[in-house]
Amino acid sequence: MDGRDLVRSVRAMGTVRGLRAARSAWRQRRTDAEGLPARGPERARVPGAVQGAEPLPGGGVIRFARSELRIQVAEGGMVFWGWDGAAPEPSYALDGVPPAPDPRVELEPDTDDGWRLVSERFTVRVFRHGAVEVLTPGGIVLRRDLPPRWWEPVRGGPARWLQRSETPADARFFGLGGRASGPRLRDGVYRLWNTDPKKAFRPADDPLYLTMPVQFTVADAGTHLAFHDNSWEGRVTLREGEEGAGSGHDRPGSAEVRMDGGPLRCWVIVGTPARVLAGWTQLTGRPAVPPSWALGPQHARWGFGSEREVRRIVAGYRERGLPLSAVHLDIDHYDGHRVFTVDRERFPGLPGLAKELGEAGVKLVSIVDPAVKAEPGNAVYDSGVAANAFVRDGRGREVRGVVWPGDCVYPDFTDPGARRWWGGLYEERLAQGFSGVWHDMNEPVSFTPFGDMTLPRSARHVLEGRGGDHREAHNVYGLAMARAGYEALRRLRPNERPFLFSRSGWAGLQRYGGTWSGDVATGWPGLRASLSLALGLGLCGVPYSGPDVGGFDGRPSPELYLRWFQLGAYLPLFRTHAAIDAGRREPWEFGDEVLEHARAALAERERLRPYFVTLAHLARMTGAPYARPVWWDSPEDRVLRDCEDAFLLGEALLVAPVLEPGADRRAVRLPRGRWYDTATGRAYEGPGQVLVPAPLSRIPVLARAGAVIPVYGVGDGGEERLELEVWAPAAGRTGGGVVVPDTGDGWVRAVAERYASRRVDGRVVVDRVTSGGRAEPRRPVRVRGLDEPGAGGAVDG
Ligand code: GLC
Repeated sequence: MDGRDLVRSVRAMGTVRGLRAARSAWRQRRTDAEGLPARGPERARVPGAVQGAEPLPGGGVIRFARSELRIQVAEGGMVFWGWDGAAPEPSYALDGVPPAPDPRVELEPDTDDGWRLVSERFTVRVFRHGAVEVLTPGGIVLRRDLPPRWWEPVRGGPARWLQRSETPADARFFGLGGRASGPRLRDGVYRLWNTDPKKAFRPADDPLYLTMPVQFTVADAGTHLAFHDNSWEGRVTLREGEEGAGSGHDRPGSAEVRMDGGPLRCWVIVGTPARVLAGWTQLTGRPAVPPSWALGPQHARWGFGSEREVRRIVAGYRERGLPLSAVHLDIDHYDGHRVFTVDRERFPGLPGLAKELGEAGVKLVSIVDPAVKAEPGNAVYDSGVAANAFVRDGRGREVRGVVWPGDCVYPDFTDPGARRWWGGLYEERLAQGFSGVWHDMNEPVSFTPFGDMTLPRSARHVLEGRGGDHREAHNVYGLAMARAGYEALRRLRPNERPFLFSRSGWAGLQRYGGTWSGDVATGWPGLRASLSLALGLGLCGVPYSGPDVGGFDGRPSPELYLRWFQLGAYLPLFRTHAAIDAGRREPWEFGDEVLEHARAALAERERLRPYFVTLAHLARMTGAPYARPVWWDSPEDRVLRDCEDAFLLGEALLVAPVLEPGADRRAVRLPRGRWYDTATGRAYEGPGQVLVPAPLSRIPVLARAGAVIPVYGVGDGGEERLELEVWAPAAGRTGGGVVVPDTGDGWVRAVAERYASRRVDGRVVVDRVTSGGRAEPRRPVRVRGLDEPGAGGAVDG
């Protein structure tokens, strides 16, 4: 970077903050130059030939000439292996202790000096030079990891490593955290380093805020998830395979993981997509259930600017009869952008405002940024200094960066003491009347005109007492901040489930809360990216998310805004939000037609609230995301595997958003079985592609025949009540569904009700399935799809 570049970038970033950022970037460089010695010459290593093995419960340790492999099958259909003695712990991903070894599995000698582990769901073979294969019980290879390679600095320091794996030629890759170009991950290099993209992002921008080394692989032979438990910076190079069209010369797919340091250890979970997610969230924690209000429509904006404006917006919703669950206040309500403060001039009475809104059924959510203005007299800074909570460099000096308030320091969330100190500060947020928190800028960000917008890699971190630097702590910074926030909210408000969502995170974030798209660029590609992120994150175990509806920057056309709104209404986090200099995002700002259609989307979201509540509880019980790829129940269907423009919402609904301008119908790929267009009642038969109407007034939503969906209906006395909407099973078929009634926002245990539907003599019969057999549903039932066009007889296929 020369002087001219510097001047240009300073101009681009704005004046004072830009100069600060440039200064800080140079400072960081200097810190790294002092704190991180050059790697110097390196020595390459491979495991070498097998020498012997010692059994352990569920597996054992296999010794090679230059490494050893610890391998263990655990309960729940998963296997762990670690090279160079790496064990499952310590780990930021795991939820508590690792699962117990499967006592039925033993290390057995295999052909050619290799070893073998045979379990119910898979077989693992270890070859004499260190290749590891995971096979189906029938012997088809799901994944073959070639012997790894290390590069060790001769002068000492962390070894870099490379692990190349092969997958079946037909396999498709998903996961790696939030990726805007997916959900199917095409050939390319995907960086593992949580990153603020510096501007509103588009599908090609990668990496983004929340990455994780989770590969979700779907092939004819089966589905599996591979997790390299290592938080260091890395790169994953994916290459889909190619089939030799019957010639027998398939080229396998490949996934190459390179890490700059840290342990080489891996978990592989095998099974159906549902079983894989169940295993993954057993390992890393089941998703927190948000309070029910967080499943309703929410509105945010950077730059409400005053209490008056907040009141005006909320009144706007109320006067137009539009439901609204929560309003989010961004950094403009802080005093000079300082976290845990309030601008008393423009927000003189936040607790009163919160109370007033609360009475109207609207909660307040607060943004929380990790960076603390480094300024003696700033109470948060002073108390953090006293608690020794801030990240330091190798010489013990506070590491400074630049964020919204100016020069800042960063809490070290990998330090249990710092987490406790930070958590205590949430008391102030609760006292202001906030009901939930929105963690932002926690990759963490330090503005810089060049290089990575984060802390110097040499910055020191406590890492739960082990000690280390930012190279290892960076990717888990947001996760550890979420832990601090979640634990604090549980402590401070023990009777309420916390509401927390975070821009950055890592494997296990779901234990504490959800996430959102971050600054998705306004435009049709951004709309597509919104769906990609939600589906990919769901497959990584983080099911609660959603985009900035309307896009973060600029001004969406009325049509784009509406289509975004219609998609958002079917994603777990349904929130309009935009930047301070962006156009308006309230539904009434785009003309009467958009308002009426947005009203319909809001009404449908509210009608489906009991279904969302059910999906939230099911996510906790089973790990299954609310929004699932259409191949969820039929991963063997190759055409569905490549379908990226629709999703299943739970088991019952297939949502086909409109992702391009000018559409009045769209093609929808159906999984097998009968599906009803919920708007027209028309029945379609899958598998196959059908063309369904998609007028501006709605996006196509199809219901699976036989589905039992909990919805809000209106009783005879005009009261709102939970009803079962049942879509007629096809003749001779059955169906069903699960309902988890809302138990409020506390910790009362939710109990699932199971229903079965069948068709008897042209009628639909619904039973409640209990341990004692079948019983009356005890809830009002509304049958749909029986007398509607296309039902019963002729259907489109
Ligand atoms: C970041 C967030 C965005 C927020 C802004 C100001 O860009 O991603 O949502 O509005 O910061 O706080």
